[in-house]
Amino acid sequence: MKSESTCEGVELDDLPFVLDRDGSTLLSVQIADQLRQAATGGLLRTGDRLPSTRGLARRLGVSRTVVAVAYDQLHAEGWIEGHQGSGTYLTTAPAATPVHGAVLPGADSAPHLFDLAPGAPCTQAIDPAAWRRAWRAAADHSPLVRKHRAGEPEFRQAVLHHLLRHRGIGTDTGAVLLATAGASSAVGELAVAALRPGDVVAMEDPGYQRAAGAFEAAGVEVLPVPVDENGLRVDCLPTGIHAVYCTPAHQFPLGARLPAVRRVALIEHARRCGILVIEDDYDGELRYDTAPLPLLATMAPDVVVHLGTTSKILSPSLGIGWLLAPPDIAEAVLALRERTGTGPSPAGQRVLVALADHGDLARHLRRLRRRLPPRRALVVAQLRRHGLGVVGDDAGSHVVALLDSAETEQRVIANGQKRGVALDGLARHHRHDVRDHFGVALGYAALPWSDLVAAVPIAAECLADF
Ligand SMILES: Cc1ncc(COP(=O)(O)O)c(C=O)c1O
Repeated sequence: MKSESTCEGVELDDLPFVLDRDGSTLLSVQIADQLRQAATGGLLRTGDRLPSTRGLARRLGVSRTVVAVAYDQLHAEGWIEGHQGSGTYLTTAPAATPVHGAVLPGADSAPHLFDLAPGAPCTQAIDPAAWRRAWRAAADHSPLVRKHRAGEPEFRQAVLHHLLRHRGIGTDTGAVLLATAGASSAVGELAVAALRPGDVVAMEDPGYQRAAGAFEAAGVEVLPVPVDENGLRVDCLPTGIHAVYCTPAHQFPLGARLPAVRRVALIEHARRCGILVIEDDYDGELRYDTAPLPLLATMAPDVVVHLGTTSKILSPSLGIGWLLAPPDIAEAVLALRERTGTGPSPAGQRVLVALADHGDLARHLRRLRRRLPPRRALVVAQLRRHGLGVVGDDAGSHVVALLDSAETEQRVIANGQKRGVALDGLARHHRHDVRDHFGVALGYAALPWSDLVAAVPIAAECLADF
């Protein structure tokens, strides 16, 4: 067979493929793994042409389908691109120098850490040209004399369309849509506008502690409610509360989707007791398996405030989100903004409008839904190799691996720190030291793919060591 050479002169025939034909790992997986390693190790470079599926299959003595499956996987992960007949090329630049993640203090730390903490989005999926175009379009607007406290009209329109298309919320629910500066900021506004100091809010435990912080900063008391493999234990809601904060689409951080019966029970409870329900839909657009369940906001727009954000699907640097609330709550939020002279900045709103107008937002969401599942699969597969499982749905941008005790959790994190991987323990997501969930949350969206490939096996080993 005539050998194919890369830009650097490396003969593709020289690529060291070693296939274990008796092992339990599929041949296509082995081929994909070894091509990734060749790219991360610098043996292959961006722009290198890969052999045809037929050529590589012949060389490795496997069927052409096996190579095609490996290429399809690499294609889905964004490693390669190409068209039938015109060749397949490597698109992802390998890390030429040691990778620099977050640097945490501590004598025992490795000098550089791959940061696997959850929460950060996959900004590499953003098309830089579309991003620049959107910011330019945002800058084209003349300066406003006053900002719209409810949000820019075009932004509210774009979000209504987004909610209809991606979250199934109709425009006829009677709820009012306002722009916000993000989900956490909206919780802070609701804590002041819809609740009073001394009021009590029940929230999932483990749960999103910044929301708890926002309530407490406004003098609202937070009562933790347990979570199981189906999310919030609605049957454990305490009496005497004024609101419930929850993440029904993808419980943060354990990842459950609140089943329909619990949704109905929560709404019945809220209506019966006159309680407000705050539905934080922080990453609801990111589902990879089944269709989403109806939102609480669709089922009960009279008692639910729905929160959305661009922090997970684009970037927290936009600093924008939205809330959909019963009219009296929306009015109270607007009155608060008027009283305090606050409100979301128009710049980020205009960027989102421009992205939505040109179809870039829809394309970006499609890209995320293509790129994130292989990342999740990588984490799940690496953990599985060590006999470890994950909890939570096939959704979002993080998974949780459970451990048996707080002590083990601390040891795993310390071990990760020594070995260059920053891991996020579940302790941080609880209100109190007494808890019944231990483990680590692994965010897989933010690291470049090559860093993720390097970091996840280390994380899996750290977990398996205990
Ligand atoms: C459950 C949850 N809600 C909200 C947010 C943040 O949203 P925003 O950046 O819009 O405040 C996060 C970020 O990690 C989160 O985990």
